[in-house]
Amino acid sequence: MLPLAKARTIGRACLLAAFVVGLTAWTPIAPAPADPGASPSDRATSPAPTPTPKYAENGMVVAAKKRASAAGVAMLKKGGNAVDAAVATGFALAVVHPWAGNIGGGGFMVIRRPDGSVTTIDHREDAPSGATQERFLDEDGNAVRARSRRGYLASGVPGTVAGLLKALDKYGTLDRATVMAPAIRLARDGFSLPYALATDLNEAYQDFAAFPSAKKYFTKGDSTKPYRAGERFVQEDLAETLVRIREQGTAGFYEGKTAELIAEQFAENGGLIDKQDLAEYEAVEREPVSTTYRGYEVHSMGPPSSGGVAIAQLLNAAERKPIGKMGFNSSRTVHYIGEAMRRTFADRAKWLGDPDHVEVPTQGLIQKDYMRQRMASYDSLRITPSDSVKAGRPMLASESMETSHYSVADSSGMAVSVTTTLNSGYGSKVVIDGAGFFMNNEMNDFVLKPGVPNQFGLSGTERNLVAPDRRMVSSMSPTVVEDPQDRLFLVIGAPGGSTIITTTFQVIMNVIDHDMDIEQAVAAGRIHHQWKPRVLSYEKNTLPQDVVWNLRARGWPVTMGVFGGIPQWGRAQGLRVKHPERPDQSRVFFGGSDPRGTGAAVGF
Ligand code: GLY
Repeated sequence: MLPLAKARTIGRACLLAAFVVGLTAWTPIAPAPADPGASPSDRATSPAPTPTPKYAENGMVVAAKKRASAAGVAMLKKGGNAVDAAVATGFALAVVHPWAGNIGGGGFMVIRRPDGSVTTIDHREDAPSGATQERFLDEDGNAVRARSRRGYLASGVPGTVAGLLKALDKYGTLDRATVMAPAIRLARDGFSLPYALATDLNEAYQDFAAFPSAKKYFTKGDSTKPYRAGERFVQEDLAETLVRIREQGTAGFYEGKTAELIAEQFAENGGLIDKQDLAEYEAVEREPVSTTYRGYEVHSMGPPSSGGVAIAQLLNAAERKPIGKMGFNSSRTVHYIGEAMRRTFADRAKWLGDPDHVEVPTQGLIQKDYMRQRMASYDSLRITPSDSVKAGRPMLASESMETSHYSVADSSGMAVSVTTTLNSGYGSKVVIDGAGFFMNNEMNDFVLKPGVPNQFGLSGTERNLVAPDRRMVSSMSPTVVEDPQDRLFLVIGAPGGSTIITTTFQVIMNVIDHDMDIEQAVAAGRIHHQWKPRVLSYEKNTLPQDVVWNLRARGWPVTMGVFGGIPQWGRAQGLRVKHPERPDQSRVFFGGSDPRGTGAAVGF
């Protein structure tokens, strides 16, 4: 169960917004089955339209904080491309969004180039060379989950700086100094604290008080002196850390002063990351995981993320039904995609791992025929008995909720989809003294012991066991979708632990099947099932009572909220491109920043 303060924070805002524009019609694949259990009103409501969609003609950035979106757009205005904008946004998030933006964590980036080719950059943290399963077990062999959740043992070797700079070097056009300038300015000159950040920091006071450096940088030293909205928040040491990166590139983080500070403080406090772990860290360029959905091409992140594989599996299952006709969050739709989610997460638990260390049957899992077989036991009137929902056997043909996503597109057709994380909000709560940034608690995404779930309730097998230099399985799902004419269509992703996968999947369905604009699609209420626990979760104010009754009648255990009661989840950040249909029209980027959070779509 997540801390109450976090649950409150995550559930704070849900102002539903929407805007509808016409979309390409989907093609029904199979007739909808008769559903005697459904009443005429058995259809969930979707968000009402808003008259003020965010749109732009030259490019757009949608991120969890407006200042970070603006940092990215400033690069587009200078003539930079989507990668330049994404890198500027990523570094700015490390300053204005300490909850999840980071240089002490990691992430994944999916890049669509103007020629339509797609690549990905895996900058997931890896386990320090001294990390073994025993470090996370007590003398009786029981998993000590707290060790992977806070404090020095909880951190993997950070990958964000290597990933952002690799992308910039290979696919960007501007220099490091230019793309890092907004972040350095925000850290050095400070910025006016928004209400949400002031409140988040105040709510985390007790967490920070346990770590002197977190207390030094992110409190005023005393719980009776809270931050107030509007006061200036300056991060001088973080600014100097960023300057070292600007001057020396990756060596400015993985070697020299920053690396020494990390290694010294980890050694003093029982942590594992040493100078060699840092010096040896590398971001890896990998092929995306791609599938088609009703003629659209979907590209997402492969292992060590489970996101791309799971989204492909879910879309392959959804494509077998006329989801649009079945209705947005109707009991028939929820029943069907809930069954697809159970089977997909059972596969995730069994098959996913770091592809550099274990064999992951990615191609087998994403074959369309595989999901056809997996859904063969589906019954439109009853849930499949839990004991019979287990991982499948793919053909071995040849992956805190507190993560943050940003979506970027430029006028050349280039797009970047990035999900980045410290894992929990403020990661391990450890701040590097003298460098001013939070470290991740990504070790919790490993399996500490088979059968012991992580903080998101996800379990796994020895394929994802803690081991030296291994990357922990992730749910992050940065995704790019192309339309049937091979043009950029959608850039999407979300935070939210295991709900990242189901959120991203549902936003894609909302746009393609339910004809929603991107703002409406990210705002719309969601459901979630992850196989274990055996419960179908729905967001507050999402399912009408008769849908809930119909689901219960089919045998579903249904609850409002996830992870012990968080009522809303997954602050998705997406953009959709509308291409001209006539010569007098221009291409338009529509941005959708999830109203559950405080992000913004900024374009020009
Ligand atoms: N830390 C959440 C994830 O990577 O799935």
